[in-house]
Order: sequence, then C-alpha cells, then structure tokens
Amino acid sequence: MNPRRPRIWVAQPLFAEALAPLAAHAELIVEPVEGVRSAADMAAGLREADAAIVTIGERVDAAAIAGAGRLKLVANVGVGYDNLDLAALHAAGIVATNTPDVLTETVADFAFALLLGAARRVTEAERWLREGHWQRWSFDRLLGTDAHGATLGILGMGRIGQAIARRALGFRMPVLYHNRQALAADLEQACGARWVDFETLLRESDHLVVALPYTPATRHRIDAAALARMKPTAFLVNIARGGVVDDAALAAALAGGRLAGAALDVFEGEPAVHPGLLAAGNVVLTPHIASASLATRRAMVAMAADNVLAALGHGPSAGHPPN
Ligand code: DGY
Repeated sequence: MNPRRPRIWVAQPLFAEALAPLAAHAELIVEPVEGVRSAADMAAGLREADAAIVTIGERVDAAAIAGAGRLKLVANVGVGYDNLDLAALHAAGIVATNTPDVLTETVADFAFALLLGAARRVTEAERWLREGHWQRWSFDRLLGTDAHGATLGILGMGRIGQAIARRALGFRMPVLYHNRQALAADLEQACGARWVDFETLLRESDHLVVALPYTPATRHRIDAAALARMKPTAFLVNIARGGVVDDAALAAALAGGRLAGAALDVFEGEPAVHPGLLAAGNVVLTPHIASASLATRRAMVAMAADNVLAALGHGPSAGHPPN
C-alpha cells in the first residue's frame, strides 16, 4: 500500500505559481476563495493537514490546532507572527516559520511613502482636489513640512528599521533610533544612525517611525504619555502593528493639536479603524499594505512554500522559525 502523501492546507488562494513546487511532493488543498476564516474553517482546514500555509489574517491558536493531530508545521506568510500562538504551537510540537528579509526593502519604501505623504499632505491635497475645490493656484495653500534635513526617529531597529535608516541618508536626515540593544558600530555607521534612550527619541524626532514587533511587552509603547513628550510639530508613522500605538490616545493627541500628523498602515483591531483617526484631516491611513508589492507578495509565498518543502525534507529551510 502506498503511504499517504503529506497534506498541505493553504488558508487563502495565494499565488499558484509560487505554491506549484509543493504539488510534486504533497497533496495541496488551497482555499479557493479569499476571505475571513472562521474558527470552524480553521479547525476544518487544519484537521487533516500535515502542514499549513496561513497569512497574517488567520489566527492560529490552541482552539484552531486542538483537532489537528497530524500538523507538524505552520508556515506564516508574513514577517510578523503575532497571529500565531507560539506557546500553543510549541506545546503541540508544531514548528512555525515566517518570511523575513524578502519584504524588508518593500516595507521600508512604504514607510517613506507614508512619512512623505503625511508631512507633505499628499492624500489631504488629493482629497481637496477631487472634491473640486481648486479654483486658482495659491502661494500658501496646503503648506507641509520638510522631510529632508529633519530628524528621523526609528523605534525598533531590526531589518526594517535599518532599511528605513538607509533611505534617510538620501534625504540627509539625522537618524536616531531606540532599540533594546544598540547595533554593532559598523551597522550603525552603514545606516548613519545613533542609539538614544526612549525619552530622547520622543523628544528629538521630527518624524518618528514605529518598526517594533507586537508583543505583550510592546503593547501601547506609544501611549498618551509618550505622545505628550513628542514635539507638537512631529509626525508619527506606524508600519509595524496596530496595538504598538494606542490609537485612541493618538486620535486625542491629533484632535488636541498636540501632534502635527500621523501616517498609519496598521491599526488596533484592524480592519476597524478608530473613528477619531478617520475624522482627523492630518492623517494618512492605508489598509495594512506596506509589504504589498506584487514581487514581494510573490516572494513571501515562495518563501513559505520553501519552508514547507524543507520541513518535508526537500531542501534547506529558507525562513527563520521563531520557535
Ligand atoms: C508582515 O509580514 O508582518 C506584514 O505586516 C504583512 O504585510
């Protein structure tokens, strides 16, 4: 009797060509329709699977894996993995992988798009034009804030933070960063950045970019108290995770004129967005798309597929299992 082929469940219809190499070694079950996976969908998808490929939109927790007796690997298509309950996976002997590196430069590009978008009022200006307000050119309309020469602060100096810092060199921005640990001197030099304590980062930054992973320890790292210590002329950019910033406190700071503006790609409780942020004129809001270039999203799926192939014994692991 032939041994059963490993079964791989893919929770969303991801790029077929990137998943194709798996079909030679396993039975591939790809959800045909994109959408929200309920707890029941997750349990059903994982029940007979030996490996699963999920996106950051799927929550993989103890309840999801309760009936997944064969499951050996969860390959997350994303560098962040706060959607995975690592303790529950670890306790069940299930390995988790993510997709670092392949999205670093794309996310750093987008951090700058957001930074410039807020500082130079790009989306606000576009809204104004589309609404038909433009009757004549005006010398002092929609005056913004310069990025070049301004001090860039980066909270969280992993791969993405460093890639953002390298871009700031071209804008001649002095770069300050705060991280649990300072970078090695050669890395600091390569991205022209200087470690400072959290207080100094808040106090000195003209544009503060949040690039921290979400963990219980980083929840609301930017809270009302932190916002109060920033310059009232400063801009806050969040490309990390909702929840690292206290969105209600941010909305209050913006409404009170205690911050010049913000640009946010991620939100607490997304896809819901705090009504105070939706109401604020000086905020750029995007729906968690920092890594969403075609090439990068393809590369993320290919990396997740490689991680599964490696777990099946067909090639080296390309990802870095976080557990
Ligand atoms: C990630 O990979 O964690 C990103 O947030 C996905 O866009």
